[in-house]
Amino acid sequence: MKVALVTGGAGAVGAAAARMLAEDGFRVVLADRAAERTQAICDEIVRDGGAAVVEAVDLLADGACQRLIARVAERFGGLDCLVNNAGMTGAPRIDTVDVAVWNAVLALNLTVPMLLAQAAQPLMKQSGGGSIVNVASRVYLAGTGVAYTSSKSGLIGLTRVLAVQLGPDNIRVNAVAPSFLNTPFNEKIVTENAGLAASFRKMSPLGRLGTAEDVAGAIAFLASPRASFITGDVIHVCGGTQLAPQPDAAGADHNQPELHGRSAIS
Ligand SMILES: NC(=O)c1ccc[n+]([C@@H]2O[C@H](COP(=O)([O-])OP(=O)(O)OC[C@H]3O[C@@H](n4cnc5c(N)ncnc54)[C@H](O)[C@@H]3O)[C@@H](O)[C@H]2O)c1
Repeated sequence: MKVALVTGGAGAVGAAAARMLAEDGFRVVLADRAAERTQAICDEIVRDGGAAVVEAVDLLADGACQRLIARVAERFGGLDCLVNNAGMTGAPRIDTVDVAVWNAVLALNLTVPMLLAQAAQPLMKQSGGGSIVNVASRVYLAGTGVAYTSSKSGLIGLTRVLAVQLGPDNIRVNAVAPSFLNTPFNEKIVTENAGLAASFRKMSPLGRLGTAEDVAGAIAFLASPRASFITGDVIHVCGGTQLAPQPDAAGADHNQPELHGRSAIS
């Protein structure tokens, strides 16, 4: 049975990804510092016929990443999929950046995925290869939040470097970049800025916010053999909000009468 490790497994996206990976036949290790919540999600997966276990861990503690991978090796003897999903926000504005918060955001969102990938490489190689999926964010295209955007942009860079360096071990490395989701992660932001969710809904040609399950679908795809020749890539789980804003579609044709000397319409 293939083994998948999901960090932040008690969160909205992590839990949805863990459920989907379990449905796809993975034995799932849910790693999160929220021990009780993680256990409840694990119990649910098992009740539904999946295979799952909990590793209660604060990923920011010294040596935690190395110990976590060592525990996976000890319990299962291999690792086929690593989902670097645990993440946090903070230090949004340059004029008020608290360096301690900046460091924590960079540590959880960027350093932890690097350390986990580093520790996982020999184990995945031993398993004949694997898939690493980094949960980034659409913010790398937009520039929202000093520490968060910097960390998630770095995570996209890390994804590309790891794809090159781990490819020879048959380890594929990709990222998903979700837009603003309808999850508790955004509760505080939504409370402080009631119009934000509505704006994101309006920005999407699909006219809705993304869900944790939307993101989990992309993660499960990248973890599966269906994505066997995809590496170093980013899947935007953004409902089209990654596209540059367009002028009104009906007016657009009329405003472009000529393209290379031909009618834009013909
Ligand atoms: N929710 C969104 O709108 C959104 C959009 C784009 C990207 N993302 C990214 O998706 C990922 C998951 O988001 P979510 O909405 O599920 O968030 P969430 O807050 O529901 O889940 C995050 C999980 O990480 C865990 N965690 C935090 N710090 C930890 C630590 N030090 N050690 C161990 N576990 C720790 C938390 O306990 C929590 O269960 C994050 O990386 C986030 O940046 C979220």
